[in-house]
Amino acid sequence: MAFKAFWVEKGDTGFSYTMVDREVGDLPPGDVLIDVAYSSLNYKDALSATGNPGVTRKFPHTPGIDAAGTVVESGSADFAAGDAVLVMGYDLGMNTPGGYGQRIRVPADWVVRMPAGLDAYSSMVLGTAGFTAALAVEKLLVMGLDANAGEVLVTGASGGVGTVAVALLAKLGYQVAAVTGKADKAAALQALGATTILSREEAEAGAERPLLAERWAGAVDTVGGVILGNAIKSLKHSASVAACGLAASPEIPGTTVLPFILRHVNLLGIDSVELPIAHKRALWEKLGGEWTMDLSPVAETIGLADLPDAIASILKGGVFGRKVVDVGAA
Ligand SMILES: NC(=O)c1ccc[n+]([C@@H]2O[C@H](COP(=O)([O-])OP(=O)(O)OC[C@H]3O[C@@H](n4cnc5c(N)ncnc54)[C@H](OP(=O)(O)O)[C@@H]3O)[C@@H](O)[C@H]2O)c1
Repeated sequence: MAFKAFWVEKGDTGFSYTMVDREVGDLPPGDVLIDVAYSSLNYKDALSATGNPGVTRKFPHTPGIDAAGTVVESGSADFAAGDAVLVMGYDLGMNTPGGYGQRIRVPADWVVRMPAGLDAYSSMVLGTAGFTAALAVEKLLVMGLDANAGEVLVTGASGGVGTVAVALLAKLGYQVAAVTGKADKAAALQALGATTILSREEAEAGAERPLLAERWAGAVDTVGGVILGNAIKSLKHSASVAACGLAASPEIPGTTVLPFILRHVNLLGIDSVELPIAHKRALWEKLGGEWTMDLSPVAETIGLADLPDAIASILKGGVFGRKVVDVGAA
């Protein structure tokens, strides 16, 4: 059972990428062997492929934190050969060979049965980025996000998490203000449902002040840094920002406790990776059901051979929307 895999090797001068033939016997032990049809490109995949030690320490390595396909063999009573499934997060693509290979083997409690409204392709249009956007929106809703309270801010709006957050909030009836560094994507973000477009410079203005005018009913932040600090300082009373990313910075400069103790605002943490599997399965069902979106305007399909360029582009913040990786076609 040989299969093709994208292969990252660490050399003296950097990382190199090739396609290799692997054997199922090379995969780690696990309950479920999966034939991967599609994966996707996330910012974290690019971190893995460039040796970020917080993501991947063992090389050579096959990244891919997302995978969707069909069960080939299962040692778990919960899954059988032929089942359509997806896997995201936990250690997949970090130090466990990931979805950029045509086979993966994983523990059964990493596996999500494919929801009725999704298939291998559409689930990977969402992928970890889309799931994370949904997790952030879900948590804002738990905190009482009110559709009549005004605009909800989405930062890094043209990225993977950002585009799905814009689309989902708009679908749910919220007014969305999108921060983007890509002025040429303003029209595309408006087509997804954004009502206001802000430049990064606008989102960073006033960072030296402890509080800014109350503007946002809620926020999904994918970038961290000054933009997250300003989002916290611009929340309306009792509102929340869901922080899920660090595309700009892991720090939150210029922030004090003042917004928290004077405006009752909340900074919510979002982690899609170690989220308990029951929550993952339930949210994927929602994404295949009442939260189904038409994401075709933001989806582009690439092959494993296109990954080196796509990895370089996402690290520079240059990717619009979601890249689905057609792993089966390799
Ligand atoms: N917590 C979790 O479970 C979880 C899950 C998935 C992703 N994440 C994180 O969420 C972030 C976004 O992931 P993604 O897959 O959506 O990445 P992505 O597609 O690259 O999107 C990130 C976007 O952030 C903006 N950006 C990039 N560099 C920036 C900078 N220096 N300053 C301000 N904005 C910048 C860009 O959008 P504009 O050009 O439109 O501004 C870029 O498209 C990453 O940090 C990722 O690690 C976390």
